[in-house]
Amino acid sequence: MKSVLVAGGAGYIGSHTVKELRRAGFRPVVFDNLSSGHRDAVGGADFVEGDLRDPVAIGRVLKTGDIAAVLHFASLIQVGESYVNPRKYYLQNLLTALNLLEATLEAGVRGFIFSSSAAVYGLPRETPLREDHPVDPINPYGRTKAMVEEILRDYDRAYGLRYVSLRYFNAAGADPEGELGERHDPETHLIPNVLRAVSGHGPALSVFGTDFPTPDGTAIRDYIHVTDLAAAHVLALRHLLEGGGSEIINLGTNRGYSVLEVVAAAEKIAGRPVPREEKPRREGDPPVLLASKEKAERVLGWKLRFSDLGTILETAWAWHRRGR
Ligand code: UFG
Repeated sequence: MKSVLVAGGAGYIGSHTVKELRRAGFRPVVFDNLSSGHRDAVGGADFVEGDLRDPVAIGRVLKTGDIAAVLHFASLIQVGESYVNPRKYYLQNLLTALNLLEATLEAGVRGFIFSSSAAVYGLPRETPLREDHPVDPINPYGRTKAMVEEILRDYDRAYGLRYVSLRYFNAAGADPEGELGERHDPETHLIPNVLRAVSGHGPALSVFGTDFPTPDGTAIRDYIHVTDLAAAHVLALRHLLEGGGSEIINLGTNRGYSVLEVVAAAEKIAGRPVPREEKPRREGDPPVLLASKEKAERVLGWKLRFSDLGTILETAWAWHRRGR
């Protein structure tokens, strides 16, 4: 059984990926400082509590663990916070990636999977976004992701590090078996905020922007089920372990929903209206973000299983109600 290091494996996307890795016959070793992750999300996987800002701690795990590849999920993820406090984002997201890469190379491991983001593209010049669309992030969060991708490119050329950088669109939904789900604090993402509002366990939904150039005036996003994202990581890992070369790959569905379409679908599932207020646009929110998924299908053989909006919302709703 091959061991893989999963940095940030106690977080939302990391924990779903740990579950898929185990199902696929890998032995994930989770390294997480639990700053935003949850110990119980790791399930029965091996767990090391540690901080990527500590190069000694991460080096120890990599050198002693007989690790075949590294998956790096650990990251600060709030776009708004990254505008207000960019030094926090540059320090944390770059330092942790550099430390982890250093330990990876020192341990002789040459496979690396990186959690990148659609945020690297900035404002789309055309949709759906293909991976060859210019990288031009418009916030510090997106810039940290783009910078790590540049570092990966250099480390491949100079040290033979083979990597897959996965550019996530809007991760959403919860484990269809009900064991895992989204638990951010604060929660900034649309779907959990819609469900909190409709269940009465949160404030009314703020609809950020009703004057976008879209059919109903609200922003359109490409929501991708977290279990489909997790499955793509297993495929990317196999690609690297079978000798595949470095790749940058979008993970999205090429199908978009507006904020109001998500609200309407949630109302159908919950059987009551979503209390909501119209608010101005958030700074830097593009009107439409849609992924081309052609490369993920071609290179990884990826197939969507759970990413229709109904399944995303039903699994997220089941998780939300469980938490209550
Ligand atoms: N939205 C609301 N109300 C909310 C939350 C969100 O109206 O309470 C709207 C947003 O304005 C946006 C859409 O719902 O139009 C989706 O917003 P999210 O915050 O859920 O997701 P984003 O598209 O802003 O962000 C996602 C990832 C980021 C990543 C970004 C790439 O969460 O990590 O895509 O652009 F950077």
